[in-house]
Amino acid sequence: MTQRGSEPWRLPRVDEVETYVPPGIDTSTAHPARMYDYFLGGKNNFAADREAAERILAAAPEAHAVVRANRDFLGRAVRFAAAERGIRQFLDIGTGIPTDGNVHEVAQSVLPEARVAYVDNDPIVLAHARALIAGDPRGRTTFVQADAREPEKILASPEVRDIIDFDQPVAVVLAMVLHFVRDREDPAGIVARLRAAMAPGSVLILSHVTFKTAALKRLAEEVYERASAPVVPRTREEIAALVDGFTPVEPGLVKVTQWRPAPDAEPQTARELEDTTVYGVVAIRD
Ligand SMILES: C[S@@+](CC[C@H](N)C(=O)[O-])C[C@H]1O[C@@H](n2cnc3c(N)ncnc32)[C@H](O)[C@@H]1O
Repeated sequence: MTQRGSEPWRLPRVDEVETYVPPGIDTSTAHPARMYDYFLGGKNNFAADREAAERILAAAPEAHAVVRANRDFLGRAVRFAAAERGIRQFLDIGTGIPTDGNVHEVAQSVLPEARVAYVDNDPIVLAHARALIAGDPRGRTTFVQADAREPEKILASPEVRDIIDFDQPVAVVLAMVLHFVRDREDPAGIVARLRAAMAPGSVLILSHVTFKTAALKRLAEEVYERASAPVVPRTREEIAALVDGFTPVEPGLVKVTQWRPAPDAEPQTARELEDTTVYGVVAIRD
């Protein structure tokens, strides 16, 4: 185990962001954020993360394309919120390790003054995020280590409150994170508690893993059970129930590749659509 609890916490320097292990970080157990980074082709991952991700890839080589498709959906959805709904403040819960097209980059490319509060429960995400994310000086970003399962703590966090005015419309982003919340931890209740804090006209951006076959579902559950967070792939109906009370914009809850694809996007074959095991939705809080 690489765990260096006695060293004081510091941020990685720019030249070591891909290699620095902050004190207190356990690299012997696979972590969802670092597995996701590996699926995306990033370098912020360790042997345990790569081994776990490779077990999924052996059975589902399309996982690389699926996470890329989720990232592209996230970009289109954030652009929609900023450009078409005029949203200037974003609360991104389950941020992931910074990569291309971070929420503030997309939002600030439309509205330079856009403000983004990033929240993740993995300290390594926060270490990298603080080092890598600067943003447009006209806008603002902040980073909070907190858990999606405790929405009240997120909503009450001074750093979040400093960036987000909950009396104004906000976009809450829950991209590929609620499948790390078990049924008994009440993911629908978490969304409902966030919804209660969102002003009318706010936007929810949500994506969530589903599964193609029962065998792949079991494999994913088994791999993530040994990691730091279990995964709960859900059916389309189960995911739809999470956004109860919101009004989805067209085309509703669909595979992420089908959500307002770029005009030049290649049409998917039926097989590719089946392989796209992430649903996405953008919905309005009326
Ligand atoms: C698959 S990544 C998604 C990253 C990004 N949202 C995206 O869609 O590209 C999931 C992220 O959620 C974080 N996460 C998992 N469970 C969480 C929880 N209970 N609270 C906060 N973050 C969580 C992980 O650390 C990881 O960074």
